[in-house]
Amino acid sequence: MKNFVQPSPNLRANFPALLQFDQNQQVYLDSAATTQKPIQLIEHNYQLLSTGIANVHRSGHLLGRTTTHQFEQARSDVAHFIGAKNPASIIWTKGTTEAVNLIVASWAEHQLKKGDEIILSRSEHHANLVPWQQFSQRHQVAIKWIEIDSEGQLNLSQAATLFSEKTALLAITHVSNVLGAISPLRQLIDLASVYKTRVFIDGAQAIAHLPINVNELGCDFYAFSGHKVYGPSGIGALYVHPNRFAEMKAWQTGGEMVNQVSYQNSTFQPLPLLLEPGTPNIEGALGMACSLNYLTKLDLDALWQQEHQLFQYLVVKCASIPNLEIISALKNNIPLLSFNIKNIHSFDVANLLDQQGIYIRSGSHCAQPLLTTLGIQSCLRVSLGLYNQIEDIDRFYEALIEAIDILSED
Ligand code: ALA
Repeated sequence: MKNFVQPSPNLRANFPALLQFDQNQQVYLDSAATTQKPIQLIEHNYQLLSTGIANVHRSGHLLGRTTTHQFEQARSDVAHFIGAKNPASIIWTKGTTEAVNLIVASWAEHQLKKGDEIILSRSEHHANLVPWQQFSQRHQVAIKWIEIDSEGQLNLSQAATLFSEKTALLAITHVSNVLGAISPLRQLIDLASVYKTRVFIDGAQAIAHLPINVNELGCDFYAFSGHKVYGPSGIGALYVHPNRFAEMKAWQTGGEMVNQVSYQNSTFQPLPLLLEPGTPNIEGALGMACSLNYLTKLDLDALWQQEHQLFQYLVVKCASIPNLEIISALKNNIPLLSFNIKNIHSFDVANLLDQQGIYIRSGSHCAQPLLTTLGIQSCLRVSLGLYNQIEDIDRFYEALIEAIDILSED
């Protein structure tokens, strides 16, 4: 491909796992599931844990004050990364799944009432579907579904017909983890604002590929996970708009989130501590901020363009393979390609690729209802990160051709 710009050797050198992969002739094409980690994060964690760590917001000694300062600085860094003006808007979570469950327990349980409606899309990951489905069954709150069109995009004109005075919440993915399609958030949020509908956005797949500005979006809640954006696992952030602060109730209780406690009663802290009982994931929070700060120093726009060029290259290669059926969106998307090979099970293909050290994901991708809508039970998914290069696609392509040959023999 002409004028193909590759990730610079310096960028790849920042990810020690890639060196291992290269040495072992492995290719990692599963960054939508989780990303590899930069040396900055690895060294940061080593430093943090080897120089000493204290608990936060508790111990008044120097180490306690220092760690608390670092922890709150990490919150500010995360706020900055997604354009949130007030660091108190950032709640540490285990990840996106926990964030959705937190919103259900701490907000929806008492803000929504019987007869209200929630709008979701057909593209939701289980994380933003099952909690609302269970909530809907408990409270007789109906769910309305935004359909997807033949190109894998949300159908905006059909979506417009779903909104009414009853619509209490739009809970929508920013990017589908199977289709890769970017949701038309601007139009959907504008529609929601006409009906004073609150908006939650699942940013799990968007955070590593798109600039996020919650302030410009004007959403009420936005969630993402650290491990999808070159950070640690088991840590994530939930953004809460300040207008919602007074509506949030404790969802778990215990130490740290309290103000005064007697044997009879307790008073609680304001946000963010109200929603963060117990000792938080300190290493995770600092590590996530470290990864985001590392990304901030890169020319992300240029790197995202490169990712996209590589995606186009992947599409051209795959489109030349007979019997390969592309499932994901090819426009307005992140660099993720889902597909199937006619008459061959996705697990068999993934298994043969795995034997050659090519790591891609197969299965239902935690989106079983979406796959049912698409009329399939499983599919293969190649997903790119900032560090992938043209050689990765070439190796994948060769291994795929070989796998198809072998599996077509019987
Ligand atoms: N949500 C992650 C994925 O799509 C696990 O692979």
